[in-house]
Amino acid sequence: MTCLINPFRHACLAAAAVFATCTALAGEPTTKPIRPGDEVYAAKCTSCHDLGMGGAPKLSDKAAWTARIAQDKDVIYRHAIKGYKSMPTRGTCSTCSDDEIKAAVDYMISRVQ
Ligand code: HEC
Repeated sequence: MTCLINPFRHACLAAAAVFATCTALAGEPTTKPIRPGDEVYAAKCTSCHDLGMGGAPKLSDKAAWTARIAQDKDVIYRHAIKGYKSMPTRGTCSTCSDDEIKAAVDYMISRVQ
């Protein structure tokens, strides 16, 4: 890279950093943007978690979440991603990435903390 031999190396590196930030904000075509947790929740998880369907812990129901939050967060994530008892794998969202499911879980937890 020309930066290495450029006498204005620092300025060049700064420009490179700005460029990197801009491409990150614009969303690189190769990386799919992660949908925010509240959006994933609203699209995929409300059907069971708003009503407590099949024993699903309801959104904002502190009592239902207390014991679950006491678990290691990785366990909660794993249950949401891989499924757990009546909780289906990825809450039936086959197009959701692990990070999107985690974001949805974080959103649910944030509502009871
Ligand atoms: C078809 C119904 C259904 C859908 C859709 C669903 N869930 Fe669940 N979920 C459940 C049920 C039932 C449980 C309770 C399982 C148990 O502990 O018996 C549960 C439990 C959970 C738990 C607690 C796991 C634990 O370790 O205690 C999390 C977190 C969770 N769901 C996240 C999600 C997310 C995120 C989505 C959307 C992407 C989602 N769920 C969609 C039914 C559903």
